[in-house]
Order: sequence, then C-alpha cells, then structure tokens
Amino acid sequence: MLSPDIAPLAFAALPIAAVLGYAVGRRVGVRRSSSPSLVPGLAAPPAPAPGAPDDAAAIEAQSLRTLNRALQDSQERYRQMVESVSSVIFRLDASGKLLFLNAAWKRLSGFDVAHSLGRPLIDFLHPDDRDTARERFAGIMRGDARACTCQLRLRTREGEMRWTELTGRIIDDESAHEPSFTGIIDDISARKVAELTLRNLNQELESRVRARTAELEASNRELEAFSYSVSHDLRAPLRAIDGFSRILEDDLADRLDDASREHLERIRKACERMANLIDALIKLATLARQPLNRETFDLSELALPIIDELRAEEPARHVEVEITRGLVVNADKVLMYTVLENLLRNAWKFTAREAVARIAFGATHEGNRVIFHVEDNGVGFDMGHAGQLFRPFQRLHKATDFPGTGIGLATVQRILERHEGSIWVDSRPGGGARFRFTLGH
Ligand SMILES: Nc1ncnc2c1ncn2[C@@H]1O[C@H](COP(=O)(O)OP(=O)(O)OP(=O)(O)O)[C@@H](O)[C@H]1O
Ligand SMILES: [Mg+2]
Repeated sequence: MLSPDIAPLAFAALPIAAVLGYAVGRRVGVRRSSSPSLVPGLAAPPAPAPGAPDDAAAIEAQSLRTLNRALQDSQERYRQMVESVSSVIFRLDASGKLLFLNAAWKRLSGFDVAHSLGRPLIDFLHPDDRDTARERFAGIMRGDARACTCQLRLRTREGEMRWTELTGRIIDDESAHEPSFTGIIDDISARKVAELTLRNLNQELESRVRARTAELEASNRELEAFSYSVSHDLRAPLRAIDGFSRILEDDLADRLDDASREHLERIRKACERMANLIDALIKLATLARQPLNRETFDLSELALPIIDELRAEEPARHVEVEITRGLVVNADKVLMYTVLENLLRNAWKFTAREAVARIAFGATHEGNRVIFHVEDNGVGFDMGHAGQLFRPFQRLHKATDFPGTGIGLATVQRILERHEGSIWVDSRPGGGARFRFTLGH
C-alpha cells in the first residue's frame, strides 16, 4: 500500500519553490547571493553585472528555461509513479466529488477516469454502504476527525461488488478556499472472501457441535431413563425369585437334602448380588440428573471419616494411612464424598493381602492445575486393561478374590466429569495402584 502522504509531491515542490523564489526575488529587486542552490543541478543565477543588461536578461531567460525543464521532469516522474501503483489514489473536493484519480481506478472499477472525475465517489459505492460513507465524510468535513480508514463495497462497471479499504485524510491546501480529501483505495476482496469463508466455517462448526451435543445429551437422557426404569422393573421378578426360594425352603424343610438346600442358598445369594447391582445402576443413572451443588470445603476432612469407617469394619487389619491436610476445593460435597469413598474403599480392598497396607491421599501442583491422588501398595493390575476400569461392571479381579459390583469407578468418573475434571490411573500387577484426578475450576 502506498502512504497517503504521497511522498512524490516533494519532487514537484522543490523546483516550484525555486521558481517562485527566484521570480519573487526579481520582482522586488532583491539581489541574489551566489551561494549554490539547494536543488541539485540548478545553479543560482548570477547577479547581473552593472552595465550589461542584455547579458543579464539572457542569463535569466536561460535559467528560467532550465528551471522549467526540471519542473517538467519532476512532474513527469511524479505522474509516472502515481500512475504505476496498484492502489487507487484519489482526491475529493469538500462536497465529495472526485477531483483526481490515477489509472488504478479504471483497473478496479472499470470506469474511465475522465468520466468519473466530477462525480461523487459515493455514487460508485454499494447502495447499502452509501449512508455510512456519507456520514463519515460529513463528519470529517465538520472536523470530527482528520483521517479515516473504512471498508466499503464498490460497484464496478460490470455490476460486480468489490470489497475495498479506503484510507484518506484532509489536506489543507492554502491556494484553495476549501480543504480537500485525499487518499487511497485498495481492493481487499480476496482477503474479505477468505475472512467470510472462515467465519462461515466457524459458524457451521459451532452449530454442528451444538447439534451433536444436543443429540448426545438427548441420547444420554434416554439411556439414563432406560436404565432407571429397567432397574426398577427388574426388582419385582427378583423379589419374586428370592421370596419363592424362601417359601420352597420352608415348605420342604425336612424333605430337602444338603445339596438342594445349598442350591436354594445360591439362588438367594445370586438374588442379593443382583439387587446390589440394580441399586448401583440406579445410583449411577440418578447421578447425571442431580444438580451440582458447588461449595468450598476441605476435601481432606471428608477422607478422615471414611478411613475411620473402614478401620471399624476390619479392626484387625494393619493399614498405614497418610492423608495430606488442607486440600481445599470448590465442588459438590456429597458427590465428592462418593468419589473418595470409592477410591479409598478400593485401595483398602485391594491391599487386603498385604501384611502392612499403605494408603495415601494427597495432591500435587502441575502448572496451575491441582492433581489429587489416591494410591496404595496392593495387588495392582495390568495396565493393558486400564481403559475398561471406568466402564460399568468392568472388573479385573475375581469376585471370589475381591468382592464388588464393578460400578464404583464408573460412578467416580461420571462425578469428576460433571465437575469438568478427569481421572486416570497408573498400576502394575503386584505394584499397587495410583489413581489421579482433577476437578475443573
Ligand atoms: N486400587 C486398586 N487396585 C487394584 N485394582 C483396582 C483398584 N481399584 C480398582 N481396581 C480394579 O478396577 C475394577 C473396577 O473397580 P470398581 O471400583 O469400579 O469396582 P469394584 O470395586 O470391583 O466394585 P464396586 O466398587 O462397585 O463395589 C476392580 O474390580 C479392580 O479390578
Ligand atoms: Mg470399587
């Protein structure tokens, strides 16, 4: 882009000044000194020697011719430069009519320069941009600002719309009675098309994400409602199986041999286990519906009673517990209790075979993130299966070795995700497990 300062004017200004200076000097009879001219190639005319008027007039005429040529050369250089730039250079009078245009105008608009001069520039704009342009121009002429840059749509001779950027400013020309407005116009259609395409793409992407999220939310709600009602419906037949097996046992009390009694016992155990699974499923389904109740509290304080409860359940076990105090968070307290209970219970459960079990709850800082951890020195597991752990009913250990329904970690993950956090794990068989999690905000 060319600066609206239009530097080449300087080329013209110097010789003009020289000519005017000389002419004025002559008129008022000022004697010129013989010091060299500031304009390269122009020597100051020598002062006429007394008694030689003809020679002096000839020298003077010669000097004027030289000056004239220099002025013409300079103007030609300036004209060529102005005509060769790719930006449109324009000049408007105070009413907004075109006083000057360079050749780039024809290339941009398709209109002849000669036919365009004298017409208001606004006539060449898109009708929707005219009012804005008129107001800006009026503001500049009122003196609100001396310069402006704005994007306007120009209508070409063929009727095509081109996006342009106009940069201009007021020029106070002392020889004219009113100020003029001069500047440049650049074709920015390619940039504008790229910008608009990008904006459209972004909008499309956003609306696609919104639609996809809505779909996912709807299908999640459906799934939750489904698992909730299925779980409820499963309860009735389960109660029937459990109840009738008891009736059978009572009715056949003396006629039952040991094997049959054991079978009935197994049926009841299976019923109990299924009832537990159903409860866990219902809990998981209701989790997503429950609103988050964020408050600020000390997470470490929640861990202490859980450990007390575990010790009370199995007082004979030797478990060393280390809890970092003062881990203050902003989260849903009830749900965070469920998170810690599941993780600490797992740590307790899977260290059952250790002579001295060790469990730790703490946190580390990574950048501005706080990462909490629950770790133990228990049986651990093969990390090849780690991806499954957070899915409902996925268990890596046999129920006979370590009882459980396999819903705990799925619940934990769902709670943390509702807090915009996440959970991951490190482990190896026999090497304990280290669960780490974050909470959003
Ligand atoms: N601390 C741990 N050490 C070793 N394995 C673990 C640990 N925590 C979880 N696991 C593995 O992940 C599986 C899933 O854990 P999760 O808590 O979901 O289920 P669970 O403890 O078996 O049953 P629930 O928690 O529903 O009573 C466990 O069965 C176990 O195989
Ligand atoms: Mg568990």
